[in-house]
Amino acid sequence: MAEAAVKRIPGRGRFISFEGGEGSGKSTQIKMLSERLDAAKLRAIVTREPGGSPGAEIIRHLVLSGMGKLLGPDAETLLFAAARDDHVRSVIQPALSQGIWVLCDRFSDSTRVYQGRLGQVAPAILNAMERVTIGDLKPDLTIILDIPVEIGMQRAAVRRGTGAPDRFESEDVKFHQELRDAYRQIAAAEPQRCVLIDANADAGTVAASVWSVLRDRFFTADAANLASSA
Ligand code: TMP
Repeated sequence: MAEAAVKRIPGRGRFISFEGGEGSGKSTQIKMLSERLDAAKLRAIVTREPGGSPGAEIIRHLVLSGMGKLLGPDAETLLFAAARDDHVRSVIQPALSQGIWVLCDRFSDSTRVYQGRLGQVAPAILNAMERVTIGDLKPDLTIILDIPVEIGMQRAAVRRGTGAPDRFESEDVKFHQELRDAYRQIAAAEPQRCVLIDANADAGTVAASVWSVLRDRFFTADAANLASSA
């Protein structure tokens, strides 16, 4: 099939993070992109934060249960940082250095938004944690899925079913609105790295927008034409 002809810029794998509020459809889009990369014969792994490595998954369980909240925003930030440190060293870096693409559900922008903007954790603490955990490692591309708060919260409630909301899903509408504003500001401030995509559409339409961003950024013009006609 035509997508197999997509040419990759050789060398290190590409690091793509997905960000957005609750119910923005990150997991669906990551899955669809990973299938598309697979069809294009590009090796990719799907991972997530907090979590993605055995140690970090333990911390995920802790923070999403609300335990971290009891410790206060600074300590909760340290828990996210500890999880990221393990995940970066044991999963992300090794994959990228083997030329494998990494599709990550949330990364450091989540800390900037949730702990920095909403938890009011001081920039000095956030900067120090970033230096320790990620150093120079920035995503090559960050897709920010943007959706009106009410719709995102409805989608998250449907997905959860009868299960209880987690630590952040249970915050109020004002929290989620601020979250959305903070992500939009990051997208505006870092247009080289971030692309804001309207996620208030069916999954196929959003996936087509995501793929067109990848084509523009990472693939040659010829290959892009082939991929779009697939
Ligand atoms: P999710 O992966 O199901 O979206 O859940 C992860 C939750 O953790 C989400 O509400 C955002 C939050 N979070 C932070 O507060 N800080 C972080 O650094 C990360 C990665 C996630």
